[in-house]
Amino acid sequence: MTENHPSTPADGTPKAPAAPLSRRTFLRSSTAAGVGAGLIVTSKTAIGQTDGSDDDLKIGIVGCGAEGDALMNAVRQLDKVRFIAVCDIWDYARNAMAKRLKAYKMPVNDYVRFEDMLAKEKDLDAVLIAVPDFLHHTYSILAMDAGLDVYCEKMMSNTIENAREMVLAQRRTGKLLQIGHQRRSNPRYINAHDNVAHGHNLLGWITHAYAQWNRAVSEPLGFPKKYPLDPAIMQEFGYENMLQFRNWRMFKKFGGGIISDLGAHQIDLFNWFYKTPPKSVIASGGIDYYPIYEQYDNIMTIYEYDIPHSMWDTANYVQNEDTPPVPRSNPDHVTSRAYYQVLTTTASEGFYEKFLGKNGSIVINETGAKNSVYQETGAPDEEWQKVAAITPPIITKEDVVEDNPVYNKFWEDPMPWTRPEPWMATKSNVDVRVSKSPSEWTLGAKLDMLAHAPHLNNFFEACRKKGTQADLNCPAEEGYKTAVTVLKVNEAIATGQKIEFKPEDFVV
Ligand SMILES: NC(=O)c1ccc[n+]([C@@H]2O[C@H](COP(=O)([O-])OP(=O)(O)OC[C@H]3O[C@@H](n4cnc5c(N)ncnc54)[C@H](O)[C@@H]3O)[C@@H](O)[C@H]2O)c1
Repeated sequence: MTENHPSTPADGTPKAPAAPLSRRTFLRSSTAAGVGAGLIVTSKTAIGQTDGSDDDLKIGIVGCGAEGDALMNAVRQLDKVRFIAVCDIWDYARNAMAKRLKAYKMPVNDYVRFEDMLAKEKDLDAVLIAVPDFLHHTYSILAMDAGLDVYCEKMMSNTIENAREMVLAQRRTGKLLQIGHQRRSNPRYINAHDNVAHGHNLLGWITHAYAQWNRAVSEPLGFPKKYPLDPAIMQEFGYENMLQFRNWRMFKKFGGGIISDLGAHQIDLFNWFYKTPPKSVIASGGIDYYPIYEQYDNIMTIYEYDIPHSMWDTANYVQNEDTPPVPRSNPDHVTSRAYYQVLTTTASEGFYEKFLGKNGSIVINETGAKNSVYQETGAPDEEWQKVAAITPPIITKEDVVEDNPVYNKFWEDPMPWTRPEPWMATKSNVDVRVSKSPSEWTLGAKLDMLAHAPHLNNFFEACRKKGTQADLNCPAEEGYKTAVTVLKVNEAIATGQKIEFKPEDFVV
């Protein structure tokens, strides 16, 4: 029950990366607004190589598991960054990564204890933290106190209190702290957010967002029987057995369960697209299928957001140009909602996110398998055509076959907008009020790198120029808002109560 990367086999242990990509694509590094939907920058060096010079950024990593592996492969697509140290308490994972890095011409020192790595590696500029969530707080603070910039994986922490302390430590030390919500640096998501939903306002008022991560029933993660974790080390670091060590996400001491493992990525997008954290959450879930775990194995949750009228010009309800506008009941804002589900007993429809506006909807996911915008019948066509003419492309008709019902996605079934045949209208199974299908467009921006590469690149660029939190696409303060939004779901389920947030709940 973990996030699987394409390079991660079923037992969760790392293996060699897929073949190198043919070209590199960097989108905006930090704050540049998303007009550059398809900017392509070609690398100077071959993939996975640095010239070993002193101006390389020197980094270490703690946590050489599945995500450590994904980060390492992504770093190899970036120039002028070199691993010099790795740390993991499990020699199986640590040795595997050290061996691969050596093969990639990045020999590293390897450590069991993070404190030793920090004490001995005086040349480090930054560290990547990819250990279980309960360690993020301790290890990021140790690293920042040692003078290093930190890229810390999501979920920022498994408790809100510890996430708060991470933000405070960042301010105290002045070091960089980026949280690993990597979709925020992905050019495909930046295009959807900056250009489609906001800059050109193609969707109009986004009244609802929806996301899901559905995953089939799976066995608990195991380990190669020849390579158990040393029992003394296991005890020293607080794991009771290999089941807990390998499936830490599902035990309360170590992780926040599936809502923080999988939901964190997508719920972070709700906050990002709505440009505000929610005002309330209700949720239902339970330990219904896997009694061996402590965390819920299925969750359905609904958030409410206050959206200021200024965002999508919603102050009035406008029926048509012949009738006077009717002011909405709240003079400041409207309510938008977001539904999220994470299930671990069905892979039905996999994982994706939808942003549903009155003029159109975005359907997107991280793999790129979903990458569309649907134009509602009533949307102003002239505006959509104008945006479609922009270069680099924001929306295109590339790959769209409008009249091919097999190609079109099942949730936007194409319907001819003609009167039903008389014989159809007489059948009880046809509802003549059915809406015409929205017209499909493709999102224009592309990502030709591994999913984590742009987010890491954003962090490394900020490190190089000795930048500030404002240079990061997911600074600690944003990670904190998402941690509160996500972790409160478990509380809402446990208490059966609607949780009302106050604005100060999201501020450190
Ligand atoms: N951004 C993403 O897309 C994404 C995807 C998966 C996981 N993650 C995050 O990455 C982190 C790691 O997840 P994972 O899937 O790699 O887990 P994992 O269990 O595969 O790997 C964790 C590694 O940490 C090591 N470890 C445990 N305790 C340690 C300690 N005290 N000191 C040093 N090493 C220690 C383990 O031996 C293991 O090799 C988590 O925070 C997770 O939420 C992010």
